[in-house]
This record gives sequence, C-alpha cells and structure tokens, in this order.
Amino acid sequence: MTNEIETTAVYSKENPFLSSILENRRLNKAGSEKDTRHIAVDMSGSGITYEVGDSLAIFPSNDGRAVEELLSLLPFDGDEAVQLPKEEKPIPVREALTRGLSITMQPRKFLQAMAERATGSAERERLEALLQPEARAELTEYLKNRECVDLLEDFPGVRFSGPQDFVDQLKRMVPRLYSIASSPVLFPEEVHLTVAVVRYQTNNRDRVGVCSTYLADRVEKGVNEVPVFLAKSHFGLPEDPDRDIIMVGPGTGIAPFRAFLQERAAGEGKGKNWLFFGDQRREYDYLYGDELERYRAEGNLERLSLAFSRDQETKIYVQHRMLEEAEALWEWIRDGAFFYVCGDAHRMAKDVDAALQRIVREQGGMSEEEAANYVKLMRKEKRYQRDVY
Ligand SMILES: Cc1cc2nc3c(=O)[nH]c(=O)nc-3n(C[C@H](O)[C@H](O)[C@H](O)COP(=O)(O)OP(=O)(O)OC[C@H]3O[C@@H](n4cnc5c(N)ncnc54)[C@H](O)[C@@H]3O)c2cc1C
Ligand SMILES: NC(=O)c1ccc[n+]([C@@H]2O[C@H](COP(=O)([O-])OP(=O)(O)OC[C@H]3O[C@@H](n4cnc5c(N)ncnc54)[C@H](OP(=O)(O)O)[C@@H]3O)[C@@H](O)[C@H]2O)c1
Repeated sequence: MTNEIETTAVYSKENPFLSSILENRRLNKAGSEKDTRHIAVDMSGSGITYEVGDSLAIFPSNDGRAVEELLSLLPFDGDEAVQLPKEEKPIPVREALTRGLSITMQPRKFLQAMAERATGSAERERLEALLQPEARAELTEYLKNRECVDLLEDFPGVRFSGPQDFVDQLKRMVPRLYSIASSPVLFPEEVHLTVAVVRYQTNNRDRVGVCSTYLADRVEKGVNEVPVFLAKSHFGLPEDPDRDIIMVGPGTGIAPFRAFLQERAAGEGKGKNWLFFGDQRREYDYLYGDELERYRAEGNLERLSLAFSRDQETKIYVQHRMLEEAEALWEWIRDGAFFYVCGDAHRMAKDVDAALQRIVREQGGMSEEEAANYVKLMRKEKRYQRDVY
C-alpha cells in the first residue's frame, strides 16, 4: 500500500459519513471473465470536498449468510450483547459479526486463541503443532486458504467461553480504499469508483472479497447506510495545466485517470494527455471505452495506447505498448511530462517501472545508473507518481 490514510476534518475513520449508492453498473460486457463495477456514491450533505487523485475509504459489512453460517457453528443464538472497543454501547453479536468485525482472513493470534480453548487433546496438539516456529510456512498456507468458518469446522472441539470471548479474538473490520474516478468539477456532490469484484475459490469453497461484493451485491441503492470517509492523497495532477501527462492504468487502474481526464477536459490548460490502458479483451473489458473514444475524438486525449492481453495468443501488456512507443514517450518525458501509474502493485507496477527505466536508458543514451537517477529525480520532483495496490 503506498497511500497513507489521511482524512478530512468533519467525517473521519472514527466518524464516517453515511452515504448511499446512486449507481451500480457493470462495466464488463456479457462474456467477460471479470466483473468490474462503476459505483456512484452520493456525497451530498457531507460537506466533503475532494480532489482528483484522492481515494474514498469504505467500511463494508459482511454477507449476512456468512454471518449465519458462522453463528450456526457457535453455541450462541446471535442476540447476545457484546461490547466492541470504541463502540458506545453493547450490540448484538450478530450485528458485531456483520459490521464490526472481520470474519474472513484470520491471523495467527486467532489460532493461538483456539489452541488455548481446545477441549480435546488431539485438536490442541494439532493446533499447537501449527503454531510451532518450524511450521511457519505450513501455517501461512493453512491460514491463506481458510476463513473463520473453516477454522471452526476443522476444530469443532474448541470452546469459547461465550460470545464476548469469541468476538474479543477477532480483528476489527478495516475500511477499504478506492481511487476516485470522477472530478469534483463535474461531480461536486458525488464520487465515482471503479471496483473489481473479488471472487475466488480456496479449500473447495467459493470466497468473496468483503467490500467489493458489499458494493456490487449487497448495498441497496438509495439507502443511507454506507460508511465512508475521504482519504487524501499525494497523487494528483500537475499544478500547471499546460504540462503534458502520461497515465498508465490497466484494469481498475483506469479510475483516477478517468477523473484526471474529466478535470483536464473541463479546464483551459494546453497540456496533452496520453493514456495507456489494458485489460483482458477489447470486446468485453474496454472499461469506459465509449468515454475514452469520445475524449480522443474531441481532442482531449492526444494519445490512447491500448493493450488487450487476451485478444491474441501472446500476452500484450501496457509496458509492451510503452516500449513500442519508446521514442515518443521519451520525447514527452524529456519535455517535462508527468508520468503516472495506477493499479496492481505486485506485478504491473514493477514491470512498468522497469519499462520506464529502459526507455530512459535507451532513448536518453544513459547508463543504467544514470537512468535510475533520472527516474529517482522524476519521483523527487513529483513527476513520477504511483497509486498502486
Ligand atoms: C490506495 C488504494 C486504492 C485502491 N483503489 C482501488 C480501485 O480503484 N478499485 C479496486 O477495485 N480496488 C482498489 N483498491 C483495492 C481495494 O482497497 C480492496 O483491497 C479490494 O477491493 C479488495 O477488497 P475486498 O474487501 O473486496 O476483498 P477482501 O475481503 O479484503 O479480500 C481480499 C483478499 O482476498 C484474497 N484473494 C483475493 N483474490 C484471491 C485469489 N484469487 N486467490 C486467493 N486469495 C485471493 C487475498 O488475500 C486478498 O488480500 C485500492 C487499494 C488501495 C490501497
Ligand atoms: N494484490 C493483488 O494480488 C491484486 C492487485 C490488483 C488486482 N488484483 C485483483 O485482480 C482483479 C482485477 O484487477 P484489475 O481489474 O485491476 O485488473 P488486473 O488483474 O490488474 O488486470 C488488468 C490487465 O493487466 C494485465 N496484467 C497482468 N499482469 C500484468 C503485468 N505484469 N503487467 C502489466 N499488465 C498485466 C492483465 O492481463 P492478464 O490477466 O491477461 O494476464 C489485464 O489485461 C481483482 O480481482 C483484484 O482483486 C489483485
């Protein structure tokens, strides 16, 4: 995570604004392997003012069915009152498990608590074996594939002393950040997000990402119940609107660049915009394709380089398009363009960084060290910014 959570004064992590969802639209066409949503959040009445580049933090609720499944493995009926830290008064355990606590990924500490509460010696020994320092790799793999419900199923002899003891072992629900995909110039009272819906399988069970499915499947439109707060960012447009910008944002990485384009198209600046976008297939996964084509046709997007990875046998990614355009890219960079990257931190951002270094080295006629220093200076001057996760 590269973005520190900084919040605006009135509404904060401790005091989120209860917003409602105005729009929830799938951006991928039928036939796609992906489910990416355009989510519009109503911020009216909040007094929150945002800038392009900021993120919105959302506190999700767990799926009610997952909560019931968990409760069915516990000797409580769900109505018992429990006290959560920072909560004013006790709330029913069902509510605590729905909106206050994380019931999916569990840390080592939870397993430790289970070992201490195992009633059978075989279960205790198995749990203690997993907690030994030499079993670290096995424990990581075990926990990676299991949620709270799997752990209770694997060790049915574990007895928590009561609902309070159980909830005390769980972590608080953490807010999730989403890069804002709209400009306040066009949408002062709402915030747009581009959300990849997380669904996968582990341990032979269907799993879902808590917040992305909360937004995609569980929040009712128009009901004021979504706790949000603004996370200010250092990621943002150059102060000088005449500066050129290069944006690299495959997948959900497009989000802040849609906001940048809205803002720059509405302004008077002469700076040129170049976007590198990619996803799996052009036919199904060209997120905001109509808008991008319109920006291009109207002259607000000087260059649009597309990399649809699965439209041909060999993968084509955004960094391949950058290398194909090395000469022109170098001209833009040499002339002072800002370079932005948003999206996957684990693979894409590293590969894009390597491509940038290579372009600077080869096109700028520099040694490896000189190119690395050049890119370092770009970062220092805030000419190279990343919003990656
Ligand atoms: C600054 C910032 C900006 C962001 N902007 C965006 C954005 O614009 N759009 C966006 O969609 N997201 C964005 N994210 C990511 C977002 O915050 C969430 O992390 C994401 O939506 C997943 O949250 P979730 O609650 O749905 O999933 P969680 O319940 O948090 O589950 C995610 C976890 O599930 C596990 N997992 C996921 N897939 C698999 C798999 N295939 N196999 C095994 N395990 C898996 C991993 O452990 C992963 O950590 C951003 C993050 C940051 C930090
Ligand atoms: N922490 C993580 O593991 C992480 C980070 C970001 C996203 N995700 C998950 O990925 C899903 C979708 O995310 P997303 O919509 O933002 O898109 P994405 O998965 O990042 O994919 C967008 C495009 O990037 C391509 N891509 C894959 N590897 C790349 C690389 N090394 N360099 C450049 N491009 C690369 C993909 O191609 P191919 O798919 O054809 O290879 C696809 O065309 C979500 O479920 C999200 O949770 C996970």
